[in-house]
Amino acid sequence: MTQGLRRFNVLTIFPEMIRGALQEGLVAQAFAAGKAELHLINPRDFTHDVHRTIDDRPFGGGDGMVMLVEPLQAALQSLGPQRGKTVYLSPQGTPWTDQMARAWSQQTEPVTLVCGRYGGIDQRLIELEVDEEISLGDYVLSGGELGALVVIDSIVRLLPEVLGNAESTEAESFADGLLECPLFSRPREFQGLPVPEVLLSGHHARIEEFRSDVAWVQTALKRPDLLQSQLTAQAQLLKALPRLTRLSPAELRALGLDPWALENLVAKLKAGLLWNRSEVSES
Ligand SMILES: C[S@@+](CC[C@H](N)C(=O)[O-])C[C@H]1O[C@@H](n2cnc3c(N)ncnc32)[C@H](O)[C@@H]1O
Repeated sequence: MTQGLRRFNVLTIFPEMIRGALQEGLVAQAFAAGKAELHLINPRDFTHDVHRTIDDRPFGGGDGMVMLVEPLQAALQSLGPQRGKTVYLSPQGTPWTDQMARAWSQQTEPVTLVCGRYGGIDQRLIELEVDEEISLGDYVLSGGELGALVVIDSIVRLLPEVLGNAESTEAESFADGLLECPLFSRPREFQGLPVPEVLLSGHHARIEEFRSDVAWVQTALKRPDLLQSQLTAQAQLLKALPRLTRLSPAELRALGLDPWALENLVAKLKAGLLWNRSEVSES
């Protein structure tokens, strides 16, 4: 079995924010069981003045303060060989995705996550010490800690033996480029919404086919941008849609599928309108 990426160093002036958020749930259990390690480093511990100053005004003027390069660099260098890949959480970075979490969960080197605050960090730290910049999305957060937590959580849950059932991430949203089929449990019917009959049948092949049909259709409806190969998607959808339109209106509603939206999807597929050909590459 591939060994997971075990050690996370987080450079932050708010270590309690990271520690506190990692005290509950599956990821906390993984740390407690030694499947991953967490090290918090506060750049204030690498200052030399009585106020433990880690920020100052930007040269050239402007709003906000800038985190100083010297304490940040000293904090990073104190990690020595346990530093591994150095990542700065930044709105200017590569957007974090499930694919990246899966790839990073297969690596073994430590990851050091640098959390900025105020107006950001001195650019020279990025030039001298950072291997990669990662963004949570196109918006500005007040600090990198939430980004560090997202990166840690999404990787640690994928480490070997962290989730109880080794297969349980394979059908998840994004794993195969699709959104996961909706899930149901007791009771069999709730406020007029029944669990789709096929899920009660015990017929594994039919259940798999049904889940795949729903995954293709709801991905086409909610996130057509995820459907990378137009030819494959078209073939799958043309098989799935006639099967799903045989469900009762109540079953469709329980699945969050609108009969009108399904008809519209069929019409769009037939007219070749589902994809904007300039945006979607064929494979
Ligand atoms: C207020 S932000 C600084 C934003 C910066 N002045 C800019 O406009 O690009 C402070 C810190 O929050 C973190 N941050 C903000 N938005 C983020 C995002 N979308 N993804 C990851 N980290 C983010 C970064 O570490 C950043 O240094």
